[in-house]
Amino acid sequence: MTGYIPTLAQAEELHHKIAPSKAAYDLIHTHCVIIATITRQLVRRQNALFVRRCTLPKDAPELTGKYGNDDSGNATAEANGFGLAAEGGGATGSNNGGDERFRGNHGADGDSARNTSDAVAGSANATNSAADAHVTPATLAQKHNGSAPINLIEATVPPIDGVRGGMVPPRLLDENLAVVGAMLHDIGTYLVLKHDGSDGEKLQFDGPNYILHGLRGYDWLLSQGVDESIAQFARNHTGVGLTREQVVAQGLPLPPADYVPMNLEQEVVMVADKYNSKSIPPRFLTAEAYARKARRFGAGNEQQWLDLVKKYGVPDIPALAKQFGMKLDE
Ligand SMILES: [Fe+2]
Repeated sequence: MTGYIPTLAQAEELHHKIAPSKAAYDLIHTHCVIIATITRQLVRRQNALFVRRCTLPKDAPELTGKYGNDDSGNATAEANGFGLAAEGGGATGSNNGGDERFRGNHGADGDSARNTSDAVAGSANATNSAADAHVTPATLAQKHNGSAPINLIEATVPPIDGVRGGMVPPRLLDENLAVVGAMLHDIGTYLVLKHDGSDGEKLQFDGPNYILHGLRGYDWLLSQGVDESIAQFARNHTGVGLTREQVVAQGLPLPPADYVPMNLEQEVVMVADKYNSKSIPPRFLTAEAYARKARRFGAGNEQQWLDLVKKYGVPDIPALAKQFGMKLDE
């Protein structure tokens, strides 16, 4: 332990402490609340699947990973774990192997990051030859009458907390850790505002420096005495994982290192984060909408996202958009 694990109330205090204006707080804190909500749903689904793992039929897609037309799904529940994925040649059988699933561009974390993301996207998929022949939202939509473009309707276990599909995880996930991590994952975005709203000017992120928000958030949380295990949620949530190789190849203004989730809880927050954008005004994105966004950075990036969707299932994003009164990109 390097510091304290904040309660949700302490996470709130940290937001208040760092926010330069009410406008910034409203935008970023609300986004974090949304990501924490989705995170909780995804974790509960994962844990429900874990609890039921022994009672599922052997051919249940939650065990086999064979959803819809994805014939490549050769994963097993065991192989879907973090450690085993690297040994097993890709948990879902759709990557080239090992940690390929963490490669690909960090992608856009909202419109605020788009300029930066586009600027560094060019070489994102030099290492990603995966996926051209694999499942895409388009092909799934075609084969399933468009009713569920990312087709997880064949799941054996009915939706839990609005989440359908997903695969049995290798262990129970720590719901509280993940939710607190989600509440603080974007704390560094307060530090990359070009116009911070304190002078009445419209909020605006500092595009070129937006990519730094994860690391700045990590450093700031540590400076506040927060434990490393929580600070890592800020550091490791960008896109579908940002590798040292990409940092170097794309000349990103970050110290060369892997900025990828270190455990399942961090990975859930990274996934949940893709369903809501801090664009102004903020909006929700369905799994398909984010897949289209990811596709801009190459087929490998999109496939990584689709693999994550298959692993964690699909939350009821339209219901969440309604609940929070935000626009929905479908
Ligand atoms: Fe975020």
